[in-house]
Amino acid sequence: MNTNSLKPKASAESQIDMTELILPNDANVLGNVLGGRVMHWIDLAAATAAHKHCGSVCVTAAVERLSFLNPIRVGQLAHLKGRVVYTGNTSLIAKVEVKGEDMDTGDIKLTSEAYLTFVRLGADGKPRKVPPLLIQTDDEKAECEKAKAIRNKSLEIKGK
Ligand SMILES: CC(C)(COP(=O)(O)OP(=O)(O)OC[C@H]1O[C@@H](n2cnc3c(N)ncnc32)[C@H](O)[C@@H]1OP(=O)(O)O)[C@@H](O)C(=O)NCCC(=O)NCCS
Repeated sequence: MNTNSLKPKASAESQIDMTELILPNDANVLGNVLGGRVMHWIDLAAATAAHKHCGSVCVTAAVERLSFLNPIRVGQLAHLKGRVVYTGNTSLIAKVEVKGEDMDTGDIKLTSEAYLTFVRLGADGKPRKVPPLLIQTDDEKAECEKAKAIRNKSLEIKGK
């Protein structure tokens, strides 16, 4: 792959799907998956989507709107889907959704969502331009606008 390419890329090209089986070592005393474990998997899924989009390494700059909506129990599955939904100049936002699956019943619930900002770094360790996001559908446009609004609000609060 040409890692210098700034050719626009679709969100689907960066999509990453991960599945984890929740084991006792992943859980709290209630038998629910630890929030910190889910955060680690979310960071990995988002970092992978960012790397796929840029064709080179990116670092986590911020995590926004992380929510835990439902527990996932020991013995259930955590399905993570990450993809780039917004690009700026040297940064991008990857959205990660986590769903819990009860394999006994087939029941699947949305359990977490988060928007993570990544900055692409060059060989000199400095921020480097990211390939623009190719927006193809109304849903992708809406996702991009939402991520942009979250980013702007967060930068305003941080005084950046
Ligand atoms: C992320 C990092 C490279 C940004 O460096 P910086 O000198 O602030 O870079 P800049 O001011 O040029 O900003 C670069 C881009 O990142 C965005 N950015 C920087 N800090 C941000 C933050 N806290 N939240 C959201 N966006 C941020 C800027 O808006 C800019 O976006 P744009 O180019 O798309 O407009 C630097 O802070 C860093 O190395 N952080 C540690 C990263 C790391 O180690 N992560 C692993 C987890 S600890």
